[in-house]
This record gives sequence, structure tokens and C-alpha cells, in this order.
Amino acid sequence: DDAKKGGFEHYMLKEIYEQPEVFYNTMKALETDGRLPMLRIPAEITVVACGTSYHAALVFRYLAQEYTSKRVSVEFASEFKYYTPPLRDMVIAVTQSGETADTLTAIEKAKARNCSTLAVTNVLGSTVSRSADWTVFMCAGPEISVAATKSFTGQLAVFMGMVNVMADGKFTDVLGHAHRSIERVLPQEMGAAVSLLLGATEMFYVGRGVFYPVALEGALKMKEISYIHAEGYAAGELKHGPFALLSPETPVVAICTPGRTYGVMLSNVKEMKARGAPVIGIGVEGDTEVESIVDVFIPVPEDHQMVQALTVSVILQLLAYQTAKALERDIDKPRNLAKSVTVE
Ligand code: G6P
Repeated sequence: DDAKKGGFEHYMLKEIYEQPEVFYNTMKALETDGRLPMLRIPAEITVVACGTSYHAALVFRYLAQEYTSKRVSVEFASEFKYYTPPLRDMVIAVTQSGETADTLTAIEKAKARNCSTLAVTNVLGSTVSRSADWTVFMCAGPEISVAATKSFTGQLAVFMGMVNVMADGKFTDVLGHAHRSIERVLPQEMGAAVSLLLGATEMFYVGRGVFYPVALEGALKMKEISYIHAEGYAAGELKHGPFALLSPETPVVAICTPGRTYGVMLSNVKEMKARGAPVIGIGVEGDTEVESIVDVFIPVPEDHQMVQALTVSVILQLLAYQTAKALERDIDKPRNLAKSVTVE
């Protein structure tokens, strides 16, 4: 077992460190495969998924609506089965394992309604790849840790590759160097942020736009492996309820990267601080403005927001990992959870 962990203390950490390679390999495979442009992605797409894969689909929705003319809707596979919305032209099922029961049922339902179907999966020969009309593989390699990390990055690589095709190759350069930015955040020191979280039993993650699903995924990682009750929120929604919970005992992780919502994020952070909440702020390197208003500042390299969605996600994985480690949790096999949920 130790040999398989390649010198890392846990599979999760090893898998976090594999992400630059996963992103690079998945992008390369999409290029050499060359099938993506042939897929003729229709104007209206529904994506179905569960868990972390659902969060990757939400990132896709934000990117597609910002950079392409496609209309993307995202559904929990478990809801889709019973409350099927009017279907779009293509249904995409995203599933690391290719075996999640609800996602498999969703794809069967889409086929019965004569939609074209595309599977995005990590496992060659998995049930979903045999069931869908088309399959695109993420090149993440076997993921052992129950909490998904590198498969999320693999899914984002596939989705970002699709957005690039739909945008006529506009992002080829941006995506070509993304693995280097991911590499740069891996050694990030987390000590101060972890200390701030150790006494907490509940916390929030907030972001806007593409960083909203990134916040949801950060909170899911924290819940899964540290057992701290972490909620992800679109930052503007915090005022509609959760503000009542803010106190010095409820830390907030706020994603404050540059872009059109930078200013409003900064005022949100000040409002949270005014209610006593300790804030861990994630911003770009050298952003003294964010650094000056938060309790702990974690930098990511300044880059295109697609790349920042990747680097911030990796930072949040590391934060969950280091916190769970300090709390002496069973990181690779959290209580009550399964790697793949094959029953409804
Ligand atoms: C389980 C795993 C999660 C995963 C989800 C969906 O809950 O613990 O990490 O995101 O299933 O799995 P899938 O294989 O369909 O991506």
C-alpha cells in the first residue's frame, strides 16, 4: 500500500499532486483524439451528474454561457429520474466511475426520449461508456481516495476543452499553460488557515460566477474528509439567511479573484468581518487590498479565470486535506461514504 502511495502519506495527497499531469494529459488526449469538433455539440445541452461531477458540470454551465452561444442546464441525476425537465438536444452524463446508479438511469431516460447522449468518464469500459452514443475520457488514472480530486480536474479539462472548441480555439494558449499554474499552487503553505479552522464546527465558502461551483466543491471536500459542516454559497445569497449564523465561531472562505465581481466580493468580505466572522481570503499574488481585509490570505497566480477556477479548486482541496490531517481523520476512507454509489 505504501509503495502505491508513491511516498505520500495518503492517496488523496498523491492524487492532488497528480493534477498538473492529469490536466495536461486530458487536454492532449482531446486534441489528438480530434473527435470533439466532430461531435457537433447542439445549441441546447442538459448535463446530469452527482456529487463532485455535478460541481464540474456547474463550472461548465458558467463557462459555456460566458464564452459561447450554447444553452446549458445542469440537473442532479437523482432528481432527473423523477422530475425530468423538457429535454434539450443532447444529454451529457458526467461520472468519474461510470457506475453511479442515478447517472446511468438518467442516460437511459435521455435515450428513451431520443436525445443524443455523451458520457464524460474516467473509466474505460464502464457501464456509462457502453450506454452513451459517445464517450470522452478524462485521463485521470485510477482514483483511490473516496474524496474526488484529480477526477474533478480531469472533468474540468474535458469541459474547458469543449468550451474551447465551441469558441473556435480562442482559449488554446490559456489552456496550454494551465498545468504550470496548477503546479505552482501545490506547495502552498496552509498552516495559518488550518489553525483558524481547527475549533470550528461550521463554516462557509463563498464565491461568484464560476467560483460559486468552485466554492460548492471546496465545501464538499471539507465536509467529506474533516466532518466540519461546510456550506458553499453564491456570495450574494449569504444575506438571505446565512448571515444570521455568522459569528466569531463561523469561519468563511471567500474567493476574491479579479474580475467583474471583485468589488462586490470585497464589500461582502467587509460585511462578514463586521459580523465577527474570521475570513480566509483567496486572491491573486500581490493583492494587498484583499490581504489587508482578511485574517488569512492565500495567493494563487494571476491568470485567466478558467485557470484560476483550477488553481483555487486545488487550494481548497489542500485546505480540506491539511485540516482533516490536523484533526486526525481517516482521509482516504471517510466514514459512511462510498467511492461509487451504485444503488439508488
Ligand atoms: C460518490 C463519491 C463522490 C463522487 C460521486 C459521484 O458520492 O464519493 O466523490 O463525486 O459519488 O460519482 P461519479 O463516479 O458518478 O463521478
